[in-house]
Amino acid sequence: MTSPAAHPESPWWQHGVLYQVYVRSFADSDGDGVGDLGGVIDRLDHLRWLGVDGVWLSPITRSPNADWGYDVSDYVAIEPTLGTPGDLDRLMDEARRLGLQVVMDLVPNHTSDQHPWFVESRSSRRSARRDWYVWADPGPDGGPPNNWVSSFGGPAWTLDEATGQYYLHNHLSQQPDLNWWNEEVRREFDGIITTWLDRGVAGFRIDVCNVIIKDARLRDNPPATQDDPLDVQLFGQRPVFNANRPEVHDVIRRWRRLADRHPGTLLMGETPVEPVSALAAYYGDGHDELDLAMDFPFISAPLEAPAMRSIVGDLESALPDGAWPVWTGSNHDMSRLATRWAGGDAAKVRVALVLLLCLRGTPVLYQGDEIGLPDTDVPQDRLRDPLGVAYYPAYAGRDGMRTPMPWRDAPGGGFTAPGVEPWLPSGDLARCNVEDQRADPGSVLNLVRDLLALRRRTPDLHGGSYTPLAVEGPGWAWRRGDHHTVAVGMGDGTTVLEGVVGRVLVGTDRGRDGETVDGRLSLHGWEAVVVGPGPTGSTPD
Ligand code: NOJ
Repeated sequence: MTSPAAHPESPWWQHGVLYQVYVRSFADSDGDGVGDLGGVIDRLDHLRWLGVDGVWLSPITRSPNADWGYDVSDYVAIEPTLGTPGDLDRLMDEARRLGLQVVMDLVPNHTSDQHPWFVESRSSRRSARRDWYVWADPGPDGGPPNNWVSSFGGPAWTLDEATGQYYLHNHLSQQPDLNWWNEEVRREFDGIITTWLDRGVAGFRIDVCNVIIKDARLRDNPPATQDDPLDVQLFGQRPVFNANRPEVHDVIRRWRRLADRHPGTLLMGETPVEPVSALAAYYGDGHDELDLAMDFPFISAPLEAPAMRSIVGDLESALPDGAWPVWTGSNHDMSRLATRWAGGDAAKVRVALVLLLCLRGTPVLYQGDEIGLPDTDVPQDRLRDPLGVAYYPAYAGRDGMRTPMPWRDAPGGGFTAPGVEPWLPSGDLARCNVEDQRADPGSVLNLVRDLLALRRRTPDLHGGSYTPLAVEGPGWAWRRGDHHTVAVGMGDGTTVLEGVVGRVLVGTDRGRDGETVDGRLSLHGWEAVVVGPGPTGSTPD
């Protein structure tokens, strides 16, 4: 594996590939049915073999788990069900040995309602930490102070009977929002960030990065209109004052300065913001805010060339000089790409992965993407996500994309010990698992691995520019750098691209690997290739 030092011109996260580990569902080392840090350590060899560069761990800090780790009750302690501080040290040591970076999930917008800060804050209006959270008097009718709704549904305010004020929560009522206007809160997080960086983490994925600052005057949100995106229409209001405030950029610049004390530190924001100009603003001047701002229109788009091409083109045009995109097709909140983009169609899964791994930018694979893992149907009596529990059957929640990683077709699935019931049910182990795909040269897993190896050894693919190319048919094509072309057929008909000379380095139809291209490149429906002058894309063991 090439070490970051081999790319002195770009930080590790820029030429590399990230992999999201949802720790509770990755691998269970102690046989309690819940994935843990020991399990991650046991499976680092898979990530090394696959060829990713960095691992983003979903929250591992102490949490009562109202929202499975996204309700933190101690930002520097390890959640006991996931392991011990010693386990994390071992994980960091082992990752370092394998050349893998470790990225933490930072949840600064809200804490758990069990966090000692909130317990103290709600204890009295005169508490020293009262102002650490967003408290407000009831409205004139005794109801909530304003019209804000939680992104998990219902009012964003809960009355604290004892002190007669409402507290704000943009998610569950067990997730009170911190008051980021308060300098002490900012200083506290400076310390938390520094603690983790000093322990050797390579960066942070920052939860709901766009939400942390709220309107200082707590003004009502304006009503949604028919021109707004569907999710905004569903909430009935535009999140103008409870999120996306301009002052958030001051906080991010502060974090950037802190992070830069450890050069190469990655700040990657969860940034579900539109329009694209607002998303691009999270990169600041290209150097002074986030390194990567996640593009939710892309993940939410249909797997169709016109839609995706225009989202990618819009972002490319909007980014400031020096900024670098990030692309992802699945995560622990959104239906998996094999289901949402590909509808379970094997050819579409392969096309989606070529696309994801060959755009200009850093790809983030979610655990299971590398084997084309689809969502799992989770029966109502096994639901664990508070959203599924609250809204089933209208919305089954996020458990279907959080089920255990299927390592092999055997009792326990290689995730947990045989006979142990995992915290969420496993999917169809025989249909999709790592072991079988590893043995099959034509599998999705080997396609992804070969693409990652090709990317790693090809500067055009890990660092080159993006230039869209004209095609005939339902596909999309682009040049990377000077010498490589990526062409994806995104429909049932043939896609033709003229003026391409070289060799197929990796194709979704592995029978085409090595094929000479002499001017005219023709793709069948739902087929993708990477063409370049280099050698074929086989990967040495
Ligand atoms: C985004 C996280 O990805 C999601 O899982 C969580 O529920 C919310 N933020 C609240 O922290």
